[in-house]
Amino acid sequence: MGRKIQAVKGTRDLLPPDTAVWAAVERAARETFGAYGYSEIRTPILEDTELFVRSVGEGTDIVGKEMYTFTDRKGRSLSLRPESTASVARAFVQHGMHSAALPLKVYYIGPHFRYERPQKGRYRQFFQIGAELLGDAGPQSDGEVILMLVRFLSVLGFEGLVVQLNTVGDEESREAYRKGLVEYLEPHREALSPDSQRRLGSNPLRILDSKDPADHGVLQGAPRLEDFLNASSAGHFDAVCEMLDRHDVAYSIEPRLVRGLDYYTRTVFEIIAAGLGAQDAIVGGGRYDGLIEELGGQPLPGIGFAIGEDRLIEVLPERFRIEALKASLVAVAAVPPVSAAEAVALAEELRSENLPVLAELTDRSVRSALKRADRAGVKWVVLLGEQERATGTVTVRDLEQGSQETMPRGDLATYLRRSP
Ligand code: HAM
Repeated sequence: MGRKIQAVKGTRDLLPPDTAVWAAVERAARETFGAYGYSEIRTPILEDTELFVRSVGEGTDIVGKEMYTFTDRKGRSLSLRPESTASVARAFVQHGMHSAALPLKVYYIGPHFRYERPQKGRYRQFFQIGAELLGDAGPQSDGEVILMLVRFLSVLGFEGLVVQLNTVGDEESREAYRKGLVEYLEPHREALSPDSQRRLGSNPLRILDSKDPADHGVLQGAPRLEDFLNASSAGHFDAVCEMLDRHDVAYSIEPRLVRGLDYYTRTVFEIIAAGLGAQDAIVGGGRYDGLIEELGGQPLPGIGFAIGEDRLIEVLPERFRIEALKASLVAVAAVPPVSAAEAVALAEELRSENLPVLAELTDRSVRSALKRADRAGVKWVVLLGEQERATGTVTVRDLEQGSQETMPRGDLATYLRRSP
């Protein structure tokens, strides 16, 4: 016997019946985002490494430590996408989409890759459901993106989630703040964690959301970003908050929230869910007004978010999960000596009436057919025996109730469709 081969560390097989839950979540996303005028975009999983270096940023953990990067057979450096905002912006520039009707609203659902230490809620291949709005700078766009996100989560049955919100200001405000922060931190260098010491040179803003207790003391007296905001950045943020207030979105302002990717400007946000342990962010997003230009396009703004689908499903409200798993299948079985071929023929008739049907393909006893149907989570089994065949009827057995009734074969489709 050959050695058993396992899925690669940090990756997982998604199996039935769980995949039904994933499909239901994705269906809900498509419906909700569709209602806001979003269309699907599918970009390659493989991109030029430079795309992420230039957008997410060389000094970030994602690009510095977590990318699956390799050289292809012609010596080009390629990476598995660790996120999709950069890919969407690249596609926008590549296809000259600035001349289409703006803003462009797109969403994506698919696998992403980061070489992180696997743990609960953290995988090396994980799925994101994301949305991006490109080509509009106004605060109403920030507001609408967040409203759409909140609506989607409430469709799934989430309650009590709070959007954590902050602004990192525009380029000018951010630059001023970076200077102020480094000036303050430099004299405390020795007291900082090794990670933060490194970030002091490369990405000082990231020190703010350090989880290391060593940094917390030092950060207590640090200057605050909000004191460095210019009038336009502050006004934008106020307008976003106003819109969220108007629509009763639960949010809290988190001055330390800066996000781990370099392209953010102005509004940034996250949503945290209980029950996930340390990996508790189920959504991250924000505005990226310089990204498209950075990638060689027109100076056009953008905003979006990505939901971690693996984490979302881990904390999915039970009611949505149960609905998604509810068996909708009907099984059809022949009672010997009627042959299985006749069950298949009846199943085909029902499928022509748009009913999903599981046909018993093998001649076997009614007892074992019922047992199989029960294990498959089927609600009804349609039995076709000699008696039924002779009289043009069928017997429908309700596995949940344990009851059964016989009816003319012609009434069957209507009966199954009507029954809850
Ligand atoms: P991000 O915060 O890096 O943002 O990722 C978004 C979400 O993806 C996280 O909140 C988390 O739920 C999920 N996620 C990230 N890494 C993992 C992992 N290793 N395992 C499981 N889930 C994970 C972005 O990717 C930005 N592109 C979001 C965005 C879109 N900003 C603007 N537009």
